[in-house]
Amino acid sequence: MKKSLLIIALAITSIFSAKADEGMWLPSLISQRIEDMQGKGFKLSAEDIYSINQASLKDAVVLFGRGCTGELISAEGLILTNHHCGYGQIQQHSSVEHDYLRDGFWAMSREEELPNKGLTVSFLERMDDVTEMILDGYNPSMAEQERAELVKANSDKLIKEATQEGNGLRATVEALYYGNQYFLFLYREYSDIRLVGAPPSSIGKFGGDTDNWMWPRHTGDFSIFRIYADKDNNPAAYSKDNVPYQPKKYFKISTSGVQEGDFTFIYGFPGRTQEYIHSEGVRYIEQTGDPHKIHLRTLRLDIMKKYMNESQKVRIQYSSKNANVANAWKKWQGEVKGIKKMKTVQTKQEFEKAFDKWAKGGEFDGVIEKIEGIYAQLEPYQFATDYYTETVRTVEVANFAMSFARLFKKTDSEVTLDKAKADELAESFYKDWYLPIDKESFVAIMNEYEKNVPADFKPAYYKEKLAAYGSIETWAEDIFTNSIFIDPAKVAAITAEDREAVLKDPATEFFNEFLKWYSNDIQPVTTKLNQDLQLAYRDYMRGQMVYCRTQRVPKAFYPDANLTLRVAYGHIKGYSPADGAYYKPSSTIKGIMEKDNPEIFDYNIPQRLRDIYAAKDYGRWADATGEVPVCFIATNHTTGGNSGSPVINADGNLIGINFDRVWEGTMSDIVFDPEICRNISLDIRYVLFTIDKVADADHLLEEMTLVE
Ligand code: ARG
Ligand code: GLU
Repeated sequence: MKKSLLIIALAITSIFSAKADEGMWLPSLISQRIEDMQGKGFKLSAEDIYSINQASLKDAVVLFGRGCTGELISAEGLILTNHHCGYGQIQQHSSVEHDYLRDGFWAMSREEELPNKGLTVSFLERMDDVTEMILDGYNPSMAEQERAELVKANSDKLIKEATQEGNGLRATVEALYYGNQYFLFLYREYSDIRLVGAPPSSIGKFGGDTDNWMWPRHTGDFSIFRIYADKDNNPAAYSKDNVPYQPKKYFKISTSGVQEGDFTFIYGFPGRTQEYIHSEGVRYIEQTGDPHKIHLRTLRLDIMKKYMNESQKVRIQYSSKNANVANAWKKWQGEVKGIKKMKTVQTKQEFEKAFDKWAKGGEFDGVIEKIEGIYAQLEPYQFATDYYTETVRTVEVANFAMSFARLFKKTDSEVTLDKAKADELAESFYKDWYLPIDKESFVAIMNEYEKNVPADFKPAYYKEKLAAYGSIETWAEDIFTNSIFIDPAKVAAITAEDREAVLKDPATEFFNEFLKWYSNDIQPVTTKLNQDLQLAYRDYMRGQMVYCRTQRVPKAFYPDANLTLRVAYGHIKGYSPADGAYYKPSSTIKGIMEKDNPEIFDYNIPQRLRDIYAAKDYGRWADATGEVPVCFIATNHTTGGNSGSPVINADGNLIGINFDRVWEGTMSDIVFDPEICRNISLDIRYVLFTIDKVADADHLLEEMTLVE
């Protein structure tokens, strides 16, 4: 099976290699694309991108945390990522006295670099096709559940073998093409990662959520960290004796700038795409899932915004939470628009009809019908799950109460409470919690829940309670007046004896009862249906490949993103967002000044930047027009997780940091339109300018290798 799939994939690559810019390619197989890349301007070889025998560009790219990318830019372990990727860390170190979010942070010496608990970066050591080993023992008569267990057991075995030596090695086995292929990924994971620098949010988050997902853009979305290692350059837990990590490879930085038409290449960890799904999956997203989720988040965001505008303290407390909620909220809106505009449901339906006709009597006969049948069963459960996730699960105090309740350990003879953990949990919760926001959100979203979720998909607990309370408002009153968890002093006094009271607390009970209902009534059904769907998609995926090859339907095939290292390439290019409009591919500091407005939080820049602009004190960082370049767009296919990815030029040098996509193109997780889909990158010269002129941290520039 593995062989036939690879042969198909190869055949397709060669037939349609001219296809424009769509695709997230596996680095270990990049030799299949290298001619196309070189044809578009790339000057290096496949071995320069990925090699297990010599240092290659992959050794300068890291998975940053569990959802972003970063890149090495010095011989002493300096890494760049986005401001929004380091946001949680910057926020954790911030208080009203030391507001690094507002004012920025620059370590002027190594001693001042700030450690970050829980933050890791991972280098990909190697990746290998392990399909045969993973499917060892498989036979086609196996049920999907049985197959999943076999895959899990074989994966665990491989992972154990691969990581035996210890030394910070971490391995995962990932399914590609819905389990038609499996790869083992071996990572070296470092956990002493220190914050080195971050611009003020008025630069790093300039434009805020107003400009998020938009072009033209002027956000200086970067932050700087350093990897520390033990004396032998190996991963080690934080220690003041650790030393800066010495990378096998780091990026040289190109200061020669970018032009429309230039080749660009993004090397990073895209999180999730669904390019091959059936029209029913897309229809649900476009017409049901996204619209409801958007509405629920609008309610929460409006409430947050109201209180954040009233108080600097609340603004800091909710800045990170607000950015997270707002980010997907805005993306979904662009996605829905894009899917509609592309008529993706209709196009897919036509494709499916033709496929189905072609499939009659062959291996793939009936697969379309099967998928449609499963989606029909799944939809109400998916809807209930979406509501549960976007309502009940977002009630902060209830989440906290449940996490707290889990700290009790009960045996036959005694109940214990891990007091140290409890204190730690409480401290981090109360630092960033504001009761009025949580309470008003509860009322708003639970009223929507009541209105929109069919009775059959609501827990009995909920219906009884609501009848007893009479209204969501009264229910909220009870939780937010009577719960122990609204009061830090009461929480501090909880002992092992209080377990029963904690479980009966209205906040805990709310979360726990919904959780039980979800785990018993919803999740088993969705798990089963999703397994059936996986199985059907595995066939449909192969079927699509065979169909497109034999029927000469031009379509690029690459595995959907799954937070594994990928290469995307394209070129710098503007686009037309709407009839009558055309966007140029780059922005400059002039645009920052045009947006500058002290009255509007998102557009209020630091005085320092105004002064620099007035004096045109740009140092060596101006471009040919005399302005400092800020951002640019290109046709690279990226998604969430690509944030912080190095943007590389034809010579393999760093020209930017990826941080976003244009709003009109956010449907590219489902369908890619080369006319509209653009990734947004920060021009590396704006990074250097900010470090040099705004932060006066030239000691960092000295560590880097700049090339003209
Ligand atoms: N849209 C970018 C991404 O998906 C940036 C998000 C952070 N910025 C923000 N304003 N919320 O992650
Ligand atoms: N900002 C996104 C991230 O955090 C990248 C934008 C996108 O989804 O392409 O990964």
